[in-house]
Amino acid sequence: MPHDDHVLDVVGVGFGPANLGLAIAVAEHNVTAERPITALFLERQEAFGWHRGMLIPDARMQVAFLKDLATLRNPTSNFGFISYLAARGRLVDFVNRQTFFPTRLEFHDYLSWAAAHFDDDVSYGTTVEKIEQTGDGLLAVTGRRGGESVSAVARAVVIATGLAPALPDGVESGERIWHNSQLVPGVAKLATGPAPRRFVVVGAGQSAAESVDYLHRSFPDADVHAVFRRWGYSPADDSAFANRVFDPDAAQEFYAGSPEVRGRVTTLHRNTNYSVVDPDLIESLYERHYAERVEGRERLRFDKMCTVEACEDLGDRVRVRIRSSLDGTARDLDADVIVYATGYRSGDPTRFLAGPIARRDDQGRVRITADYRLELDGSDALVYVQGATEHTHGLASTLLSNIAVRTGDILASLEARIV
Ligand code: FDA
Repeated sequence: MPHDDHVLDVVGVGFGPANLGLAIAVAEHNVTAERPITALFLERQEAFGWHRGMLIPDARMQVAFLKDLATLRNPTSNFGFISYLAARGRLVDFVNRQTFFPTRLEFHDYLSWAAAHFDDDVSYGTTVEKIEQTGDGLLAVTGRRGGESVSAVARAVVIATGLAPALPDGVESGERIWHNSQLVPGVAKLATGPAPRRFVVVGAGQSAAESVDYLHRSFPDADVHAVFRRWGYSPADDSAFANRVFDPDAAQEFYAGSPEVRGRVTTLHRNTNYSVVDPDLIESLYERHYAERVEGRERLRFDKMCTVEACEDLGDRVRVRIRSSLDGTARDLDADVIVYATGYRSGDPTRFLAGPIARRDDQGRVRITADYRLELDGSDALVYVQGATEHTHGLASTLLSNIAVRTGDILASLEARIV
């Protein structure tokens, strides 16, 4: 295909870790390629940021640092976590810690460091709204930056718009009703006002346990009520054999399975990622809870087998109705803030498509090819997806584990189809 300067090879929608990984793969490819690949990334945020609202000091990564943006694809990459440590002058200091797990703050700094290399290739503050086919298999991507319309034409698009915070139906976030993605700025704001007396945290996953821990440590006079449907927090399975479900090869092995087998794998290994908590954090919360019982002043409280049935913002507090599924009784609790740690949902990548229609399976889920393209009706336009592929490529889809290798696979597919 002839190379036209006005037509890009690829436009990336979103510039989180997944498309940052792609930018790195493209840059490394271009160093030696006879025909370089041109790429532009459109990102809604004003600057690079990775789940900023949950950058709790001390919170650790749930993935080994070697599963960074590049190493598993190219162990000698200049964009690996080790290169970052060397650039920051902390390589030896990090090694002395003898852990595979950096803090999230440090990993955010790593991602920001990597992203800064691509400032010329990213249009920040740009929200993509629409992708349509223009003819000759090209794609026009349009969006808004400030009040202005922005557009780009490319041979391929890679949608990697990540996860969106999910609140229960009917719940709207506000001053006193937060999703945990608002936690860190919310706490910073509260810390400048009158001391809060009570928090309610809904959920039993990692973000819920981290929110309980952070609120309890940040406000030494406040009670923190954890409300969850389970009997207690359950540990994340981070053991070596189970971890193989995140191996690079696992994505294609999973893809080769029947829908029944894929479903079984996801159910069997759900506890590697969903509704589970890092065992160290469980132990720390239990120890603190027990110590408070010994002291006779319990600030940390656990409402097991309970659901939050309603919550009402009364202006100066929020009233929370908690129902026990054990005896069916309900009680009201007034709190300064309720934090819903009720998860995230993958955005439907087809929401951008104004032209070709995406094919769906018998459960209504988008059909994706092995090389991460949307299957489109009557069109072979190249629309790749990162993230929203858990039903086709397995549990690593929404995580960091596979970004390095997956972006290499997407680049190889792209190159074979457009160059
Ligand atoms: P991500 O959501 O990071 O990025 C998507 C980007 O697209 C965002 O920057 C967004 O602004 C942008 N965007 C969305 N819509 C857009 C539009 N219309 N136009 C333009 N841009 C748009 N995983 C793991 O493996 N180990 C871990 O330790 C953790 N820890 C962790 C902590 C917390 C608090 C959360 C919420 C999640 C994790 N994860 C994780 C999982 C997490 O999904 C993963 O770390 C990456 O964020 C996935 O990267 P993506 O680029 O796919 O999505």
